[in-house]
Amino acid sequence: MGNARPPDKHPAFLVRTAAPFNGGPPPDLQIRNAITPTPLFFVRNHGAVPIIDPTAYRLHVGGRVARPLELTLDDLRALPQHTVVAALQCAGNRRQEMLRLGDIPGEVPWHLEAVGNAVWRGPALADLLWLAGAATDGGPEPGHVALTGLDEVKRRGAVFGFGGSIPLTKAWGPEVILALEMNGEPLPPAHGAPLRLVVPGVIGARSVKWLGEIVVQDEPSTNYFQAVAYRLQPPDAAGGEPGEMLGDVFVTAAICDPPDGARLPAGPVVVQGYALGGGGRAVSRVELSGDDGRTWTTASLLGESRPWAWQLWQGMLELPAGPRTLVARAFDAAGGGQPAAVAQTWNAKGYMNNAWHWVAVEIV
Ligand code: MTE
Repeated sequence: MGNARPPDKHPAFLVRTAAPFNGGPPPDLQIRNAITPTPLFFVRNHGAVPIIDPTAYRLHVGGRVARPLELTLDDLRALPQHTVVAALQCAGNRRQEMLRLGDIPGEVPWHLEAVGNAVWRGPALADLLWLAGAATDGGPEPGHVALTGLDEVKRRGAVFGFGGSIPLTKAWGPEVILALEMNGEPLPPAHGAPLRLVVPGVIGARSVKWLGEIVVQDEPSTNYFQAVAYRLQPPDAAGGEPGEMLGDVFVTAAICDPPDGARLPAGPVVVQGYALGGGGRAVSRVELSGDDGRTWTTASLLGESRPWAWQLWQGMLELPAGPRTLVARAFDAAGGGQPAAVAQTWNAKGYMNNAWHWVAVEIV
């Protein structure tokens, strides 16, 4: 299917780049369901969607393992299947707020839509590591699991599969799934068919789609998307600074409704959005302010709050006429810790904006 718009995406999908295809749902539709329907789940591709013949497909597992594996889709289906409800959030989510403060060339201008929450099903990565004897090879303690996709991405004159790595300690977690299914259906091509990794609690970039190879190794992946991109560079980066490698998602909350610029009647205003806990922790509280953060009120958490998944919430603010700003922030078991302003977290590539979310509205 290459760079074409995925056929199942909602007509209201916000297309951020056409080739490769990148887009996500408008904020009001995004929070309509606790489980994001696949037509509303954002897509982040760095190259064209590869065409993979399921009968010829093989997953290779190697590196510092006692028993390298080559698995067909039937082999993978024969393993115990696990289900996890998990959010995926791109490290570039909410970059638009950062773009108001300075140019971030060549990056997708995501607003709030680069996050979704789906039901993923497939074998646990831990079961594969166990089958391959990852922990019993007698060598130096291997530290990372490198993942490479079967897509072909062009960067710096080279063509290679998108990749990255996660620490081995995370890879053994029962929540890390080799997903064959998304929301009860076979994984669609745009989301990594026939197989993708899902690493809950970690930036979306590590959930490698069209997964072709898993290598257990001492060092983090040297793939461009781990060694160069998806790193936190200083605001004055002239290029060349390695910056910090990204991993865990930061605690965050976003207001999806009302939108920026809304005109609303004075009185009670219903405010709705999503929140994520740091590192995939369950969200414990979401707070709202209608007076620039001087006073706060607690929002209601909708449904069960649990690790790995996002948390939808709804609250009410009593607002008098005039220009007002709605502010949201979230807490998890490790506390809060969101920066109040975007300027406090601005970085050269526009990653990890977890500032309090400020939405300007006009109360009439
Ligand atoms: N895997 C491959 N092979 N190629 C990619 O471009 N994009 C990554 C990740 N896995 C990507 C990939 C990024 S940055 C994100 S945020 C998630 O996939 C997005 O997953 P989705 O498109 O299913 O929403």
